Amino acid sequence: MTELVLKNVSRRYGNTLAIDKVNITVANGEFLTLLGPSGCGKSTTLSTIAGLDRPTGGSISFGDNVLFDAEDGTFLQPEARGFGVVFQSYALWPHMTVEGNVGLGLKLRKIPAAERNKRISEVLDLVGLGPLAKRYPGELSGGQQQRVALARAIVFRPPLLLLDEPLSNLDAQLRQQARVWLKDIQRELGLTTIYVTHDQDEALAMSDRIVVMRSGKIVQLGTPQEIYRTPVHPFVASFIGNANLIEVTGGAAAQAGGCDVRLADGQVIRAQTPLGNLNAGKQLLAVRPHLISCTKADNASEVAVEFGMENYLGDHFEQVVRVAGTEMRLSLDEPRPRGGGKIWIRNEDAMVFEAER
Ligand SMILES: Nc1ncnc2c1ncn2[C@@H]1O[C@H](COP(=O)(O)OP(=O)(O)O)[C@@H](O)[C@H]1O
Ligand SMILES: [Mg+2]
Repeated sequence: MTELVLKNVSRRYGNTLAIDKVNITVANGEFLTLLGPSGCGKSTTLSTIAGLDRPTGGSISFGDNVLFDAEDGTFLQPEARGFGVVFQSYALWPHMTVEGNVGLGLKLRKIPAAERNKRISEVLDLVGLGPLAKRYPGELSGGQQQRVALARAIVFRPPLLLLDEPLSNLDAQLRQQARVWLKDIQRELGLTTIYVTHDQDEALAMSDRIVVMRSGKIVQLGTPQEIYRTPVHPFVASFIGNANLIEVTGGAAAQAGGCDVRLADGQVIRAQTPLGNLNAGKQLLAVRPHLISCTKADNASEVAVEFGMENYLGDHFEQVVRVAGTEMRLSLDEPRPRGGGKIWIRNEDAMVFEAER
């Protein structure tokens, strides 16, 4: 079983720690996604795996091969690692045809012409570009260029595929389609894949497991369901699923049915503590936009709010409210009932975490 193992991998640039003691084990055939906001260290992590960047600490191994070890100075060059890599900019050779671009890696590996042509046509069929083999990149759409880049990365059957925001240059509809076919190809070939994105929907839809990163550190590593349903940090709740975060106090007194937390204006909300006991002091209440209602609900806390803007977003209405000096967003199927001035937050859907120190 060929596992990729990152142990305490760090990369320092002067005073900046781009990544800080990252530990990840990727199983054979797994689709693992690095997810987080811009600048959190996703690309740095991927580059250290590809061998395009040299960490300043830790070790990386793939099966029995040590790729990098800060202790003894081991560093395997990217060519020797032989992983397939696709970046956001596809970096195709403009003066080479589609088949030329795809076959270049095979040529450099001195694969005989007959075998080369066979593999090129197989992989072009796989990505649906067979008929365009003789075209030049300038004669292709963005989506087609993106397929060429993927074909080029998988044509030599790499043991590991590394993808850095490969779909982010595509428009919304193409992105959705590309997500599906990329995942299909990955599954069909059983390719161990590490995928970088800042798009939570992409991560939830495609991944076996997701690594949520912030400021160079892993905040949570788990399946899409674990990450969404049981976030271990308010950052995870707000980044995946767009939870509203509100400062509260009182979550330390948790009991079986949850605990009562107090907003800055004194209103009380019943909530859960997914991580068990909290320390006293400031806490953060996290509630997802679609789990708050504007009509009376059972086992829910009634909260007086000030209604703000209502935005029509096609498949739902986004209602802005202000409560205790904080803005919250609600996602409603229908426009809110007129009048009122109250919302209901279901006890089981409100989560309290310790605020960061
Ligand atoms: N070559 C570099 N020199 C200095 N700082 C860098 C360099 N590359 C990345 N960084 C810093 O490391 C952090 C992580 O960057 P990166 O891995 O590119 O983030 P992401 O891909 O998640 O957007 C950022 O703060 C970035 O500014
Ligand atoms: Mg990046």
